This record gives sequence, structure tokens and C-alpha cells, in this order.
Amino acid sequence: MRRTTRSCSSRSRPDRLAALALGAAMLLTLAAGCRADGGGRDNTLRVGVALYTQDDTFISTVAQDLERLAREAEGEDGELKINLSVADGRSNQTTQMDQVDQFLSRGCDVLCVNIVDRTAAAVLIDKAEEAGVPVIFFNRQPVAEDIQRWEQIYYVGARAEEGGTLQGQLVLEAWQADQARWDRNGDGVVQYAMLEGEPGHQDALLRTEYSVKALTDAGLEVEKLASDTANWNRGQAEAKMKQWLEEFGEEIEVVFSNNDDMALGAIDAIREAGLEPPLVVGVDATAPALEAVAAGTLQGTVLNDAQGIAGAMLDLVLALNRGEDPGEAVDLEDGHYVWLPYRQITRETLAEEGQLPLPAN
Ligand code: BGC
Ligand code: CA
Repeated sequence: MRRTTRSCSSRSRPDRLAALALGAAMLLTLAAGCRADGGGRDNTLRVGVALYTQDDTFISTVAQDLERLAREAEGEDGELKINLSVADGRSNQTTQMDQVDQFLSRGCDVLCVNIVDRTAAAVLIDKAEEAGVPVIFFNRQPVAEDIQRWEQIYYVGARAEEGGTLQGQLVLEAWQADQARWDRNGDGVVQYAMLEGEPGHQDALLRTEYSVKALTDAGLEVEKLASDTANWNRGQAEAKMKQWLEEFGEEIEVVFSNNDDMALGAIDAIREAGLEPPLVVGVDATAPALEAVAAGTLQGTVLNDAQGIAGAMLDLVLALNRGEDPGEAVDLEDGHYVWLPYRQITRETLAEEGQLPLPAN
């Protein structure tokens, strides 16, 4: 399988090193593939993992957690070998479908799919059903009708609305605690900018809606100054925020960002412009975002539980492999869904958990 050259322009050095290490691990697992002959049972469990792109901070974390937890599970079992084969979809649904075809023809036992295009799941599900291979979708949620196409289809993720609500509440609490600081023009209205994730992604649509709703539900008046997609990307968010700062300057009181990478991009632009920083919030709780929370440049973030997602997927994979009832292994809703809770992270919660100063990573 050909790998694409990636652009490293917007990555910090530790990010880049982590991505390189992950890339190397993926090459190894890709070479190992699934089962060459497509038949015969042994102690090896073959899992095909299809990522929408390897070049995404949060998704790389989920993949690394899955790899680590699989090694731990092997250690506990003593006899089982878990062969994770990871494919980079390079944000292209056609590429990803080819990779899934290969996984199926090479005899994978289970597929974990972070689908590029959430609306394209039906074809993939039909192929998997024909091959009798269960599919666990994660993070990018197919529509409900598709999930219901076959009983061996699962979705592991977090509820997008909940992430948005918790993010909005972070802003609400900070605003109410120190309105004199954040309400710069003193009109009692929250003038905000919104950095949105990829268009069509459930987390972009619903976090955008529910974060603001948390303020209006609490009776606050809001005014949207600017809103646009930066595709989950730090560099794009920095460029967008730079434009907005040129247009609105310190009129922007709050910056909602659908994820941490984009929030960090906004903070880069604010620092560059040398303006008084507005209140900025993200989602994910990536390592660099936690550092920004500790430093006070990011007001707060909402933990998107990468490790929980990876753990639930592995539990499902193991249960399916043993022919056990998946509902015994994970908390299954409607027979198909595993929901991981979101959690607010602020300087205070980090301090309460004894995480200040943060351990080096
Ligand atoms: C995360 C983003 C990530 C996206 C990828 C979201 O849940 O918050 O950081 O880029 O998933 O699908
Ligand atoms: Ca105001």
C-alpha cells in the first residue's frame, strides 16, 4: 500500500515525533496485514483498523491507545496474538474503501472503521456482512439507518451534543465568575467567534449548536461575530483567526473551537497579534491543550476519551472473537452503541487531580 507524503508545516516538534513513531508502527503492521490465506483458525486475532487520516492529533491518539491496550491484552492472555493492521484513508473515501476491500480479502476477523464520509457507510456494511466480518465504527458516526443494517455493526464514540453543552458551560462559568474581565464592551452580550470542524461531521455540527445553546439556555444574550470551518486543523484555524482579529480586534470576547488543535491555532494568532486574549475553549484534552490550560491561555477543554474509545473497541473485538455476547463486555445501547462520557477540564480540575505542573510527555 502506498503511503502519502504528509505536510508537517503546522505541527510542533513533539507532535511530529509522535506522528513519525506512529507512522513507523503502522508500516510494520501494514506489512503484517491480515491473514494471507484467508482461512484457518489459530491464536491470532486479525483486526483491520481504517483511519480517515493518520494526520489528525485525536485520531492518532486513539490508534496509539488501541495498539498499547492490545499489547497489554496479549500480555494478560499469554496465548493470544492480536495483529492490528492500520490503514491511512488519507481523507479519501475511495482510498479507504479499497483498504477495507483488502482487509476483507485478506481475512480480517473484525474491522474498526473511522469512516472518511459518514454518509458512505451502507456499501461498506453490506460488504462486511457478506464476508461475515463485524464492523466497529468509531468517532465518525454513520447515520442510524446504516448502523441498523446488520446486528454485527457497532459504533463507539461520545455524544456530540454533550461535548458542546459541557464546552458552553465552561464559558458560562468563567463569564459569570468574572464578567468585568470578559465582557469587554460592557454590554452584557457575549460577542463570540466559532471555529468549526470539518463540515458534515457530527461533532462539528452539534458542538457548534450546543455550546452556544448552553449560554442562551442560561439566559445570556450572544452575538456571533464570525464562524467558519478550519477542518479540525491548527494551521487553518490560525489563519482564520488572524483574519478575524484584523476585522474585529478585541471585540471578540469568546472563541469557541470545536476541537483543541483549532483552539491552539487561535491562541497562536492571538499571541502573534499581541492583543489582549479573549476567552478560548476547546474539546479533546490533547497533551498540548492540557499544557495550554495549565498555562492559562486556554480557559478549558472537554475531555474526548481517546483511551476509553480504544478500550471499548478492544473489549468488543475480544468478545466478538470469543463468540461472547458483546453486551456483557461493554455497555451497549440499542444493541449497537457504546457511549463514552465527556468531562470538563480546567486549571482547577487539573489542580484537584494533582496534575499541576503537568507531567512531561
Ligand atoms: C475530535 C477532533 C478530530 C475529529 C476527527 C473529533 O471528535 O474532537 O479533534 O479531528 O474527531 O474525526
Ligand atoms: Ca460584550
